[in-house]
Amino acid sequence: MAILKLFDICKDYQQGKEPVRVLKNVNLTVEEGEYLAIMGPSGSGKTTLMNIIGCLDVPTSGSYELDGRDLKDLSDDELADIRNQKLGFVFQNFHLLPKMTALDNVALPLLYGGVGQKERRERAAEALKSVGLEERMDFLPNQLSGGQCQRVAIARAMVGKPKLLLADEPTGALDTKAGNQIMEIFRALSNEGMTILMITHEPAIAACADKIYHILDGELRTGETVGGKSHEA
Ligand SMILES: Nc1ncnc2c1ncn2[C@@H]1O[C@H](COP(=O)(O)OP(=O)(O)OP(=O)(O)O)[C@@H](O)[C@H]1O
Ligand SMILES: [Mg+2]
Repeated sequence: MAILKLFDICKDYQQGKEPVRVLKNVNLTVEEGEYLAIMGPSGSGKTTLMNIIGCLDVPTSGSYELDGRDLKDLSDDELADIRNQKLGFVFQNFHLLPKMTALDNVALPLLYGGVGQKERRERAAEALKSVGLEERMDFLPNQLSGGQCQRVAIARAMVGKPKLLLADEPTGALDTKAGNQIMEIFRALSNEGMTILMITHEPAIAACADKIYHILDGELRTGETVGGKSHEA
């Protein structure tokens, strides 16, 4: 089943007097369990596309289905609920709250989701354990390395059991070793059936996914299959 379907998505931004089209008729279907990478040069529209997929922005035209539901005309509150229930986000710069411990950062989406305190702590601890941080739960972000912060962010993204994990340059702020650890976690999540959509401009990182799409000047090109999986026509 498809988790995500984009039909002819266009996005225009006003730049000076003229609207400039930064996404041009993007069509994309992501099946449950797929692990995709989208590559493209700076300014090609990657973050714009990710923001639309992540319900943080709306397209100028085209339509978008997430988990079988058309997202047209939903209110901001409805979109926020969909983000909370169906999507997990990982960003280049982690976006952790600096005054909260790793555990409290991970538990936060569950608080917004109305989960009680005991269950929040248990599930957050479980999520941190799954990324190898059971001994760092009470650390603040500034007491953790970049790679550890990103693992906290992954635990936070996964704690609500999302349908789709969205990652925008998840290794962009990390050295090669820490970046590879993040890719090992993504691979393990994928092997467990998680659907992952990752943006990167590093070919070695994109090659960790099962399929690579390229975006150039707002146009998305059909994916190439990598990682030894069979090629598509
Ligand atoms: N709010 C905005 N207003 C006007 N133009 C914008 C806005 N946001 C993005 N753009 C333009 O849209 C284009 C795509 O931007 P986007 O941030 O999606 O690129 P990107 O592929 O993520 O680049 P990078 O790799 O540098 O992060 C760029 O030309 C950018 O200038
Ligand atoms: Mg970007």
